[in-house]
Amino acid sequence: MTTLEYLNDHKDKFLNELLDLLRIPSVSADKKFDGDVRNAAMFVKDQLIAAGVDYAELCETKGHPIVYAEKIIDSTFPTVLVYGHYDVQPADPYELWDHPPFEPIVKNDRIYARGACDDKGQMYMHVKAFEAMIETNTLTCNVKFMIEGEEEVGSDNLEAFIKEEKQKLLADVILISDTSIINNDTPSITVGLRGLSYLEVEVTGPNKDLHSGVYGGAIANPINILTKLIADMQDEEGRITLPGFYDDVLEYSEAQRAEMAKAPFDLDHYKKELNIEEVKGEKGFSTIERVGIRPCLDVNGIWGGYTGPGSKTVLPSKAFAKISTRLVSNQNSGKITQMIIKYFEENAPKSVKVKVTPHHGGTPAVVSTHSNGYQAASKAFEQSWGKTPIPTMEGGSIPIVALFMQELKIEPILLGFGLDSDDIHSPNESYGLFNYYKGIETIAYFYGHFSQISKKS
Ligand code: BES
Ligand code: MN
Ligand code: MN
Repeated sequence: MTTLEYLNDHKDKFLNELLDLLRIPSVSADKKFDGDVRNAAMFVKDQLIAAGVDYAELCETKGHPIVYAEKIIDSTFPTVLVYGHYDVQPADPYELWDHPPFEPIVKNDRIYARGACDDKGQMYMHVKAFEAMIETNTLTCNVKFMIEGEEEVGSDNLEAFIKEEKQKLLADVILISDTSIINNDTPSITVGLRGLSYLEVEVTGPNKDLHSGVYGGAIANPINILTKLIADMQDEEGRITLPGFYDDVLEYSEAQRAEMAKAPFDLDHYKKELNIEEVKGEKGFSTIERVGIRPCLDVNGIWGGYTGPGSKTVLPSKAFAKISTRLVSNQNSGKITQMIIKYFEENAPKSVKVKVTPHHGGTPAVVSTHSNGYQAASKAFEQSWGKTPIPTMEGGSIPIVALFMQELKIEPILLGFGLDSDDIHSPNESYGLFNYYKGIETIAYFYGHFSQISKKS
């Protein structure tokens, strides 16, 4: 039996197992779900054992456990290290979901649930591709699995794990499915991910909430101050005004930009999907460039004062905001974080106090199109899709990718199968059945090509 025949014979089984995993609300950010996060880890471990690994274990950390498993068939064969994450983003706001986020349903050939694409659906494709290769006796590489439960909260403990377990994690390539393709007719391989600096700002005015008539106009309103400080961080041309912010930004040549512009992109469709009249971003750059090769700054949440029903006349004591910047090569997350802290401290007027707390950061990553891994991934897409994939720079972040390169010196291959329209991190997240099954097939082909290419070089 070929791998493809095995996949076609087991589609229902593969789908039902994923639905079982999606029923476990493994939200890493919220303590309330700690038990479920562990249950998801155990589920993944058990499924890896059922699929045929030599052994699988939960590696305890200061936070959520890492699932590690391996199948070593021959020490002279190349080794693939699979990375993925079983944790998911919070599902809030629940009321915007058409179906409960942890009661997955399949509708119009799509799986709807939190984590359907990011990353349970994509991670589980690797478990099933592995099973198919084991069952059909077609596995040509050693395989190691490292599936973590803290990606959505910054992978802090994975960092310590990879620094300590370099020997265990020795491999020839790291395979990751946690990114997107351009569309289902245009496969692509991600070669760039943005970095990140994420902070929280707290502005305090008077020591208590006050009557906005009795005091209004006479003392500083922390919400007014905070919103002005935030607004001043960007100019009319969509550039970030912090002194030195662009110093380390890698500029791309006209030739590189022309190459990037060859990737199909339909601006009208993009605007229509989001129900917006116009896009907005840094002057002089296309939408693809704004997301792929330029940094940005966004408020992720802002609150303070009265937000209940009706109106309450109040001059609030405090205002808060969560702010993120997305970074590109060769920006340094620590340096940018310090820059933002300094900006708030130096520019907040004496009439308020300001406190800035850094959350997680992440280094941008760019991978080569010339590696054995990239070539094998390209061939795998040619085999499954009949098309050569286009290299793309994506706007999202997987901070651990840069660390893999730095600490393990292994090339990561971002073999993702999601779509921008899968609504990851949003209500009604979904993943296409086409992508799930085609992804499993493509992953299985990757192993064949990778062992062939590795033999030659
Ligand atoms: N899988 C995403 C990152 C992603 C999505 C990359 C789409 C490319 C295309 C990942 O799970 C994620 O959400 N990362 C976070 C960063 C993390 C530190 C919270 C992000 O990008 O916000
Ligand atoms: Mn992810
Ligand atoms: Mn995510």
